[in-house]
Amino acid sequence: MHTFHAQSCTISSLYDKTTGSFQYVLSDDASAQAVIIDPVLDFDVMAGATSTQNADLLLNHVLESGLKVIWVLDTHPHADHFSAAPYLAGKLGARTAIGEKVREVQALWKGIYCLPDLPTDGSQWDRLLADGDEIMLGNSRLRVMLSPGHTLASVTYIGPGCAFVHDTLMMPDAGTSRADFPRGDAQALYRSIRSILALDPETQLFVGHDYGPNGREPREMATVEEQRKDNIHVGGNRTEAEFVALREKRDATLPLPKLMLHALQVNIRGGRLPELEACGRAFLRIPLDYFTPPAR
Ligand SMILES: [Fe+2]
Repeated sequence: MHTFHAQSCTISSLYDKTTGSFQYVLSDDASAQAVIIDPVLDFDVMAGATSTQNADLLLNHVLESGLKVIWVLDTHPHADHFSAAPYLAGKLGARTAIGEKVREVQALWKGIYCLPDLPTDGSQWDRLLADGDEIMLGNSRLRVMLSPGHTLASVTYIGPGCAFVHDTLMMPDAGTSRADFPRGDAQALYRSIRSILALDPETQLFVGHDYGPNGREPREMATVEEQRKDNIHVGGNRTEAEFVALREKRDATLPLPKLMLHALQVNIRGGRLPELEACGRAFLRIPLDYFTPPAR
């Protein structure tokens, strides 16, 4: 785990090499109250097996550190991994939350998966967060900012001197996240990123993914100032039109994430696996010939 300090808070990050995901624990130093952000439930696609290695590392970390986790948060319904939010919330007596627009994502994917019984009211989470909502950790304030583009439900969590920007910006040498999932929007992504880059230049921005481009070690944090100056997609004076053209051109070449069709049906259930069927086992559904691979 890596540790960072930002004003009244400490941030610990845990990297999941399999999915290139960063998971975070943000804690208020004075009260030891904490949130976990974007925890991963492991999934072995070849074996169809879930496990809790990442989540248990987070669990051990917060227990050994004496932290009191009060919320387990997701920034958006992820397309590359299952959320471990309900597992960790259950172990820690914490509550779960996500951006309120997750209801629209539920409705969209309910149609794609043909799941007539799936509730699309967000009742799978303890709380749905709106733009401007606040979560208090002791005297440290965490503010919710809607930041659509990668998904329409994406939010950024802004704490004291830090922000968790999920899949908007990546590290400066990697650019930005894709915006081509259903209801993704490159123009909205650009505007969300501009709002993030309007934060104080010293703000530490923690990203959702890094894949270690050009052989470097995976990294999770760059400041607003570094992103403004060096980000290869939005740094300097790049205009919205230039960004949208660049993003859409690149997205047209990308295959779907390996686990997208597996993960979204779990994540629109708040990170819960499908219910057991009469035989006593649970099954994932894969829509056939709904998505097509990019043209070569
Ligand atoms: Fe994502």
